[in-house]
Amino acid sequence: MMSITAITDASLTEAAACLKKGGLVAFPTETVYGLGAIATDDSAVVKIFAAKNRPQFNPLISHFADKDSALKAGRPNKIAEKLAVHFWPGPLTLILERPADSPISLLASAGSDSLAVRVPGHADALRLLGRVGLPVVAPSANRSGRISPSEARHVADGLGDKCDIILDGGRCQRGLESTVIDCRGNSPLLLRPGPITLEQIYTETDLDVAAPANPPDRNTAPLVAPGQLASHYAPSARVRLNAADIREDEIFVGFGALPKGVISEFNLSPDGDLHEAAARLFALMHLADKRGVKSIAFAPVPMSGLGLAINDRLARAAAPRMPE
Ligand code: TXA
Ligand code: MG
Repeated sequence: MMSITAITDASLTEAAACLKKGGLVAFPTETVYGLGAIATDDSAVVKIFAAKNRPQFNPLISHFADKDSALKAGRPNKIAEKLAVHFWPGPLTLILERPADSPISLLASAGSDSLAVRVPGHADALRLLGRVGLPVVAPSANRSGRISPSEARHVADGLGDKCDIILDGGRCQRGLESTVIDCRGNSPLLLRPGPITLEQIYTETDLDVAAPANPPDRNTAPLVAPGQLASHYAPSARVRLNAADIREDEIFVGFGALPKGVISEFNLSPDGDLHEAAARLFALMHLADKRGVKSIAFAPVPMSGLGLAINDRLARAAAPRMPE
């Protein structure tokens, strides 16, 4: 039976025990809430795909308590090591080559020879992982294709009956899922924009991460990260982008000053701050959706820095939906 539990020493111990018995535990990270299962336990990993209604071709990220265990799980090159040193613990996922004898469930790699690893920058997530002592796969704790959860309540609303325990750590500080970088080649490749920006990576490591020109605009377009279906993060309402006005049966979500004539209580960041906007994006989508309007209109958000990740999520929320 699901319960939302405040994070205490006792609840972390209970959650670790639950995971080790093959249970599913939702827990906070600095990005979004994850739905955790032991990565080496095939039947627990299967339960994740079922709970989320996630297609089996979409691989999962393994989470570790420390950098060395995370790197050791794969076959890291110099690029991966450099990124790990600079940004872990933190909102960055690295794609590594998967060793042939990896104990991590092949389902987590969706049958491929790659492995996604990350050390989250969240004290309680690290405590949980430390107590478990094994890698934990954790996709965002939402039903496949829906909005990611940045609060425990969002998890309960979407997946409440599928989790054995939901650990409540309040609001996630970053609010957007980790940046995903494929480190396997001679130069790093951006698979999913996120809180660690390309500018930041270049400044701090001198690595020039190549980004695909545009997110795929159709569900059938070639996919970068297998999970990056065009339609994703979809609220029930339609989503209208780059809005400068408000229409009937619509909620307007601003960024910075509202356009003339538009009145709205929703704003990603009244001051036009991209960090604040990223942290609030999913919570605002959840909230606007609860109002039951036909459409949610978003003001334009600049493309620089974190704006790349925000616009990526907005474009996917607005993309044509796949049949359920
Ligand atoms: O911030 C995050 O990364 C959160 C928290 C809970 O850690 N997790 C998360 O997981 O966003 P998920 O499953 O919702 O998204 C993982 C993304 C998907 O787009 C997936 O396709 C990609 O990472 N991915 C996972 N393993 C991969 C692999 N081996 N190769 C390429 N892409 C991979
Ligand atoms: Mg997700």
